[in-house]
Amino acid sequence: MIAVLDRTASLGIATELGEVFAAAFAGEEHSDGERFATEQLPTHAARDDFRLVVAQEDSVLGFAYGFTGWPGQWWSDRIAAAISPDLAAEWIGGHFEVVELAVVPEAQGQGIGAALMTALVDGLPHRRMLLTTYADDRTAPRLYRRLGWQVLVQDLGWGSALYGLDTGVPGID
Ligand SMILES: CC(C)(COP(=O)(O)OP(=O)(O)OC[C@H]1O[C@@H](n2cnc3c(N)ncnc32)[C@H](O)[C@@H]1OP(=O)(O)O)[C@@H](O)C(=O)NCCC(=O)NCCS
Repeated sequence: MIAVLDRTASLGIATELGEVFAAAFAGEEHSDGERFATEQLPTHAARDDFRLVVAQEDSVLGFAYGFTGWPGQWWSDRIAAAISPDLAAEWIGGHFEVVELAVVPEAQGQGIGAALMTALVDGLPHRRMLLTTYADDRTAPRLYRRLGWQVLVQDLGWGSALYGLDTGVPGID
């Protein structure tokens, strides 16, 4: 039910992923599924070590993806500017960056989100992983904490928290 897709396969179902994205983030500022499918995903799919996992039955129920992040990229630089230099030096650059996790509302609450996150990071060589999520208490941050992620910064200043996972793997970071 959960599959790991490469860049080409991911872009091949970009429209469907955009629909899942729009349904999961409905009502939020950045919930434009078409922009996700035509701009965000193609840009990110070109990044180092891009990896996307998808939960699928007859249709796509959810997905998660990430890549290796580096200074000079928008997200890395924005986070680095918002945290202490020591924390930035320790965590940013060569980290695995989890960019999106989304499950359609009808399929939420069955463990699919947790299974996607587990599959996404499984076997990766990165020592450090990073993501931003909501600073307030809701399903997504609870899910990350259950899976062992730690809160690095509770509020970056715009309602997002920075979470990190030190895998202990002596890998590329
Ligand atoms: C965050 C998100 C991906 C989680 O997906 P999900 O498939 O619902 O995740 P899970 O099912 O693994 O966990 C969700 C909840 O269901 C519970 N749950 C999981 N399996 C369950 C089961 N078999 N029976 C009862 N409850 C269960 C979990 O304990 C969790 O509960 P909590 O919210 O009280 O902590 C989903 O809610 C979503 O797409 N949200 C909108 C987009 C979003 O916020 N993305 C993350 C941005 S950082």
